[in-house]
Amino acid sequence: MESIKVGLLGLGVVGGGTWSVLQRNAEEISRRAGRQIEVVQVAVRDVAKARAKVGDGIEITNDPALVVANPQVDIVVELIGGTTLARDLVLQAIHHGKHVVTANKALLATHGTEIFEAASAKGVMVAFEAAVAGGIPIIKAIREGLTANRIEWVAGIINGTTNYILTEMRTRSLSFEQALAQAQQLGYAEADPSSDVGGLDAAQKLTLLASMAFGIPVQLDRAYVEGITHVSDQDIHIADRLGYRIKLLGITRRRAEGIELRVHPTLVPAHSMLANVEDAMNAVLVNGDAVGQTLYYGKGAGEEPTASAVVADLVDVTRLHTADPEHRVPHLAFQPESMADIPVLPIEQVRCAQYLRMSVNDAPGVLAEVAQVLADSEISIGSMIQEPASDGVATLIFMTHQAQESNVAHAINKIESMSFMRSAVTRLRVESF
Ligand code: NDP
Ligand code: HSE
Repeated sequence: MESIKVGLLGLGVVGGGTWSVLQRNAEEISRRAGRQIEVVQVAVRDVAKARAKVGDGIEITNDPALVVANPQVDIVVELIGGTTLARDLVLQAIHHGKHVVTANKALLATHGTEIFEAASAKGVMVAFEAAVAGGIPIIKAIREGLTANRIEWVAGIINGTTNYILTEMRTRSLSFEQALAQAQQLGYAEADPSSDVGGLDAAQKLTLLASMAFGIPVQLDRAYVEGITHVSDQDIHIADRLGYRIKLLGITRRRAEGIELRVHPTLVPAHSMLANVEDAMNAVLVNGDAVGQTLYYGKGAGEEPTASAVVADLVDVTRLHTADPEHRVPHLAFQPESMADIPVLPIEQVRCAQYLRMSVNDAPGVLAEVAQVLADSEISIGSMIQEPASDGVATLIFMTHQAQESNVAHAINKIESMSFMRSAVTRLRVESF
């Protein structure tokens, strides 16, 4: 059978990995796909650099619009990133009747509704396994493997850069900046790493997971997003002593009133599965009513792990290329006309256990006053420790039972206004699954 023709937009970390995997495993891949998958054109900015990578015989251009309009190309693989040029190129590719494979979670979390609608109208596929948790086939699992289930919640470590930073800070006492620089060198970080450390990258992925888990529209703007920039060495080591690890988690949960959708640094028990996911590894726990908990673990970023997901999508699209569009798996797992308008809950309506750390004057009555504020805000203390005072300043650490977020915010405001306070309150959420 004639080969399927691919136009590759981008030959950076993921594009380069995709090229290498396609070349190295060409024979195995074509045995699986039923035909050869052939890259016929590549678009980059620096043509000479790309030529050094792919050699002669492949057309290379610095104009990606030529690739998406190339009549020879059946599948466009978008690995440029961003939400402006990438959006235009993907929509143009769809307009020209081409299937699209992308690793671009920012694009799909922002413009997914428009892109999936355009693809459905044109009868083409948009595949995006690499956009969530790199090499882990989590989209395949949720969209196909777990279709029997009413999914109750999904929780995971879905950003490799931040997991790498938190691991290096805890195990090797690296500074935040040193660890981030290493993650960038290793190709884990986004072009703008503030989207990694600020939690946005994880929120983009979580938004896509929530959409596929619950059949709701992609709603990035409703997600609560808190990154790791305020997580200090001190908190990492205190958490360790208390039997916890700090992880940046994405959590989405179905509740009677709506859907929780939140990304924040979280204390998880040190013996739990998620606590032991280290370095740039990712892991996603999915809880379905029939199957119970299932765990998906693997490399969430980097050249070939991400390429593994891109190439898997290429094989899927190749296999289904000639299938009737109505018989394909829906982009977001649920049939488009069956998507539900369940509200996403504001963070104030979430209930979570809390870790609260504060520096206070070491004086009689201070602890009692803080405890009273917590009691008045209906926050029950699970445990409390006071670090030995130095220069008249004591550190108090409270671990609370589950409390309403709006009450916690109110209590923190009140405590911070008290005259004995010597620092802001550091608050981290605590979860166990
Ligand atoms: P890189 O920055 O490494 O690569 C980007 C590629 O796009 C480069 O080859 C670059 O060309 C090309 N490019 C950029 N702008 C243009 C343009 N205007 N015209 C033509 N080509 C252009 O990015 P990554 O490979 O890291 O990321 C790509 C996508 O994959 C992003 O959406 C990212 O979020 C996603 N992703 C990344 C992962 C990772 O581990 N890095 C993991 C999962 C998803 P040139 O080489 O000439 O500069
Ligand atoms: N920057 C992302 C991460 C790449 O660190 O997880 C994978 O999506």
